[in-house]
Amino acid sequence: MKDILEAPFVKEMCATTANMYRLGWDERNGGNISYLLDENEVAEYLDLDNVIRTIPTGFEAEELIGKIFIVTGTGKYFKNIEHDPENNLGIIRIAKDGKTAELLWGYADGGRFTSELPAHLMSHISRLSVNPENRIIMHCHPDYTLAMTQVHIMDEKELTRTLWKQMTESIVVFPDGLGVLPWMVCGTNEIGEATAEKMKRYRLVIWTLHGIYGAGRDMDETFGLIETVEKAAKQYMLTAHLPKVNTIPDEGLKALTERFDLDYRKDFLNL
Ligand code: 13P
Ligand code: ZN
Repeated sequence: MKDILEAPFVKEMCATTANMYRLGWDERNGGNISYLLDENEVAEYLDLDNVIRTIPTGFEAEELIGKIFIVTGTGKYFKNIEHDPENNLGIIRIAKDGKTAELLWGYADGGRFTSELPAHLMSHISRLSVNPENRIIMHCHPDYTLAMTQVHIMDEKELTRTLWKQMTESIVVFPDGLGVLPWMVCGTNEIGEATAEKMKRYRLVIWTLHGIYGAGRDMDETFGLIETVEKAAKQYMLTAHLPKVNTIPDEGLKALTERFDLDYRKDFLNL
């Protein structure tokens, strides 16, 4: 059996959470990640018959039975993960009943998975139905994105269009736009269901006055989506109080989608 601490997926979780912390996206225990793993790859590192303990998830995810995820722990600080992965991360498999997580590794101090597991697992189900390659759900609290939810109209078209207009790369990176949820109590099945509903259509979902969810094939795609939204939101927050002299016209945004052959939310432009 190989050393689990050397597994690429453990190292990716460590590197990504450390980056997110350094960027200020994850204060204290803010943020969480779940990463769908390949069973054969995990079997190189762990005895899959050795269930350390079982933890009820609080909801049923029939579509995910037998699937294995590495997930950040609840209450754990992203800044600590790279130095102590075994206490701060866990590898879980969804049991045959669809309602129980079987712990295969981690949460060594008796901890458990993120309180946002409903939003994560329900979003995995949604994204897998759209793209079977989807592996990552990532949540965090980036400053400018969060600030923007205090001052901008929280309408999917208006918010997406404003972000697209902040810089050339926005529409190229997220032509599918952003889903928006109003402020809601977090950590519940209700916000999980609402997020997952949006995830059928979007790879990015904003939680008003809370943060952002991103989904993608791998860490780079998912991280890059959130990073680009945050950069555009920063441009907005740095300039919203100043007279705008130059902006990208809607015709220019359309021209970008043609240049890069992108399928985009045409109804989000005023053409
Ligand atoms: P957890 O510590 O349970 O992952 O919660 C952090 C968070 O960001 C809640 O939305
Ligand atoms: Zn959060």
